[in-house]
Amino acid sequence: MHKGGIDNMSEIKFYKHEQIPMEMHKVKIVQQLHLLPVTDRLKKIKEAGFNTFQLHNKDIFLDMLTDSGVNAMSDKMQGAMMIADDAYAGSETFYKMRDKLEEIFGIKNCLPAHQGRACENILATRFVKPGNCVIMNYHFTTAKAHITRLGGHVEELVKEEGLVSKSNLPFKGDIDLKKVKECIKKEGADNISFMRIEAGTNLIGGQPISYKNMKEVTDIAKKNGIITVLDASLLQDNLYFIKIRENSMKNKNIREITRMIADLFDIIYFSARKFGFARGGAILVRDDDLFHSMEDLVPMFEGFLTYGGMSVKEMEAMTVGFDETMDMDVISQGPQFIDYCVKRLDEYGVPVITPAGGLGAHLDASKICSHIRQEEYPAGALVCALYLCGGIRGMERGTLSEEREPDGSERLASMELVRLAFPRRVFTLSQTEYVIDRVKWLYDHRDMIGGLRFIHEPKTLRFFTGKLEPIGDWPEKLVKAYEKDFGIDQ
Ligand code: F0G
Repeated sequence: MHKGGIDNMSEIKFYKHEQIPMEMHKVKIVQQLHLLPVTDRLKKIKEAGFNTFQLHNKDIFLDMLTDSGVNAMSDKMQGAMMIADDAYAGSETFYKMRDKLEEIFGIKNCLPAHQGRACENILATRFVKPGNCVIMNYHFTTAKAHITRLGGHVEELVKEEGLVSKSNLPFKGDIDLKKVKECIKKEGADNISFMRIEAGTNLIGGQPISYKNMKEVTDIAKKNGIITVLDASLLQDNLYFIKIRENSMKNKNIREITRMIADLFDIIYFSARKFGFARGGAILVRDDDLFHSMEDLVPMFEGFLTYGGMSVKEMEAMTVGFDETMDMDVISQGPQFIDYCVKRLDEYGVPVITPAGGLGAHLDASKICSHIRQEEYPAGALVCALYLCGGIRGMERGTLSEEREPDGSERLASMELVRLAFPRRVFTLSQTEYVIDRVKWLYDHRDMIGGLRFIHEPKTLRFFTGKLEPIGDWPEKLVKAYEKDFGIDQ
């Protein structure tokens, strides 16, 4: 169902109603949800060690942890799964996927991998040596972990304004060109493994990078003989924002914009848990020799070169998903819902990242919980409080998601965010209204939220498996206040 063509962006207008975003799909399969009473949620978050990654899905009402691997598939994607060609080597499904990626990105060489971080492992293994530097607009947790594991370090050179939470900058993911030049001078081009540009910059609030900035920075890289890598995991959101916010691109369609971006890079990789609405990943390599120099890493870490650890069914589905990503009606739904949510919260005074990005709504925990020290994880505490006060699961994206410095001190994150992801085509507007309502309630009771401390702290990626406890009995008190307003059964 199109509003009049793939690149027609006009929103459906209402006669006697304020403008609201419209779902351009209908629901065909549903999953039953349950809302546990608030005292049960207190028990569950305690069992989970105050870490939302450790909650069981059955104990969650609205799962907004991530958009990764939990996007709704279309009927066409599910249909395609039935015709997957199961073969260890030479699966027709792989060639179909590779050809679709070539059609979209103009690169034929394709290395399949089971998910995004597997691509990052392969890239880091191939390019990063101890002491090397990787330039990025901003890091992603797993991308950085693979680089530092091999003795490399990351330079995050996003423009300073990208880290200001309240803003009206259209492209907060843009990289600072002056800093890039200085960094190349300081490190020496030979010491730079590659430059990684992340579309839809995840950890600063799903913020896009402009085509203009991508062009300028890749030109600098090329002049210095530095390999350019695009992390396209969140490209669909970035494409939407380029189309609506970058004046010079207004008259281009999504396929044209995608191709213009792709042409700037030597290597493109993505998590198909996001890009393609399925589960998997791939690396596209322009240069044949470079491609062959990485080929052996796929059978070693992932699986044979025509499946790379993915199920062929998922590969069929994502091949259809890639095409759907080229449709403005499909890629605008997520950002429009997020925009709706962010605007309502902002109007109420809740500190949120503005302008709204892709991927999810981002609460600024450093402002909401300004009474909690960064060492006591304000975003970690806020995300647990939101589970208590609504059964909504978000994700901490702040100091808790960092790793400690070699001397054991905390590396304080530049932003303390709670991410409420909007998996694509999953939630309705009334569910979005519920989220807005519960965040407002929690904001009005923010002084009741206290800090957290680790009782089990893994060295690497501690936010996945770490266990924490509250400092004081603030969760019990918060639950009491919630019960008073909503009753014991909500
Ligand atoms: N790059 C970006 C920009 C990502 O957001 C992710 C994953 C990855 C790479 C790694 O991909 O999960 O398939 O291994 N982001 C998820 C998230 C985990 O919740 O934001 P993966």
